[in-house]
Amino acid sequence: MIRFEHVSKEYSRTGFALKNASFHLRKGEFMFVTGPSGAGKTTLVKMVTMEERPTSGVVRVSGYSSESIKRREIPLLRRRLGVVFQDFRLLRNRTARENVAFVLEVTGADTEQIKPRVLRTLAAVGLSDKADRLPSELSGGEQQRVAIARALVNDPFVLLADEPTGNLDHRIALDVLRVFKDINLRGMAVVFVTHDRSLLEHHPGARIIELDEGRIVGDSAAEEDPAA
Ligand SMILES: Nc1ncnc2c1ncn2[C@@H]1O[C@H](COP(=O)(O)OP(=O)(O)OP(=O)(O)O)[C@@H](O)[C@H]1O
Ligand SMILES: [Mg+2]
Repeated sequence: MIRFEHVSKEYSRTGFALKNASFHLRKGEFMFVTGPSGAGKTTLVKMVTMEERPTSGVVRVSGYSSESIKRREIPLLRRRLGVVFQDFRLLRNRTARENVAFVLEVTGADTEQIKPRVLRTLAAVGLSDKADRLPSELSGGEQQRVAIARALVNDPFVLLADEPTGNLDHRIALDVLRVFKDINLRGMAVVFVTHDRSLLEHHPGARIIELDEGRIVGDSAAEEDPAA
């Protein structure tokens, strides 16, 4: 699904953001990526979306490789990834339902199918009753649920979230974590990036990758699979 093989990213002005990182995300896995500010978490996410390429090593995502992917193939890869950000990034003048539908419209989905798919996805994040609200009429936690629905609606093979609870109070953060756990229970792989270690104890079964200064300094799955 996602495999990093000795991946390093060096920026000419700031040095190594990622150093010799190797891991393998399996189908249906829930993986936390944690570590202090500047550890390389967002850099790792950008390597998966191929927004950044490694300086050395290889990133493999769903049949594509950072060594051979062509520029025109990157949008095809991105369509297979669901990405959620800290700041929600919703369209302000569209309702929850329209924000989610927009993704399907731009990818040319069958118009007949758009409405039921959108409603199903909003139901999956617990937002059926607020489908017709604008982002400004929703709480932060609710806006993040819309963003999660938008990431899910194209049926990606993995949901990638970079500090999805960074703008939310702890209690709301736990609600949003619960949404990701529920989605994962239905079989979707999740990569959940957070510097907030207190969230980790609310999902004891999850895999934890710990970054520090660009290095993977801990991987809870490493003992089970030394090759990962
Ligand atoms: N485009 C860039 N050019 C130069 N240096 C960068 C760039 N992006 C990130 N860095 C540096 O790489 C390191 C890792 O950054 P990254 O954004 O991956 O950290 P992070 O773990 O996501 O931190 P945070 O928790 O604050 O979001 C930092 O030292 C950062 O300053
Ligand atoms: Mg970051």
